Amino acid sequence: MPEVAVSCQQLLKVFDAGDQQVIALDHVDLEILQGELLMLVGPSGCGKTTLISVIAGILDQDAGVCELFGQNLAAMRSKDKLRFRAQHIGFVFQAFNLLPALTLTENVSVPLIINGVKRSIAERKAQEILAAVGLGKRMGNLPAQLSGGQQQRVAIARALVHSPKLIVCDEPTSALDHETGQTVMHLLKDVAMQQDRALVIVTHDARIFGFADRIAEMDDGRVINVRAATPNV
Ligand SMILES: Nc1ncnc2c1ncn2[C@@H]1O[C@H](COP(=O)(O)OP(=O)(O)O)[C@@H](O)[C@H]1O
Ligand SMILES: [Mg+2]
Repeated sequence: MPEVAVSCQQLLKVFDAGDQQVIALDHVDLEILQGELLMLVGPSGCGKTTLISVIAGILDQDAGVCELFGQNLAAMRSKDKLRFRAQHIGFVFQAFNLLPALTLTENVSVPLIINGVKRSIAERKAQEILAAVGLGKRMGNLPAQLSGGQQQRVAIARALVHSPKLIVCDEPTSALDHETGQTVMHLLKDVAMQQDRALVIVTHDARIFGFADRIAEMDDGRVINVRAATPNV
């Protein structure tokens, strides 16, 4: 039996929106196994980004427990939590969140430098992974000099560079053409297939469903169905 990478139990998250409250996560239970690629689907506003943000420790839940590789991030001191996230989590944001004043190489080096890797080594590693996502010739550019699809690949390279145990991606292929999307998915899948890793991908892109091991469907703050995916790769 593979071990559990992520265990969410009865996660509750409520946002204040003016005089109203929005229940973004309504007692979510979800388990993601080590070695697994889980895709998260559902209509806009159903809670997908909120769920992956709680899983990655970017947002605190209001109730319930989320454990990553047996560790409860919400119970950690903030310093330990930051260190755990820097070492073990890679996050691809929907808006990419690249640093505008840094070159691609520098952007992708950041997760390694935060973890204490020497700059020259970090930059070499960043350049390798940028080449793997097809940006070998653009490494000295600034993010603003790239198309949306190219920026998205930089964000993916940055999430992978430090070989994190958990990679979380919000719509990672939304700005990519079919072929580039497939290349990026193969790269992500190669990483997730390593036994002690896991990968969670929020997506609307039916062209990549075949890469998933399981697909979890959300609606209105709940996980309403989890099914095995039909492989086509
Ligand atoms: N910071 C916030 N403040 C208020 N409401 C929010 C906030 N973030 C998300 N929400 C609300 O929570 C619900 C779930 O949002 P989200 O997780 O972004 O959905 P999805 O990613 O599935 O589109 C939505 O109704 C959204 O408007
Ligand atoms: Mg979202």
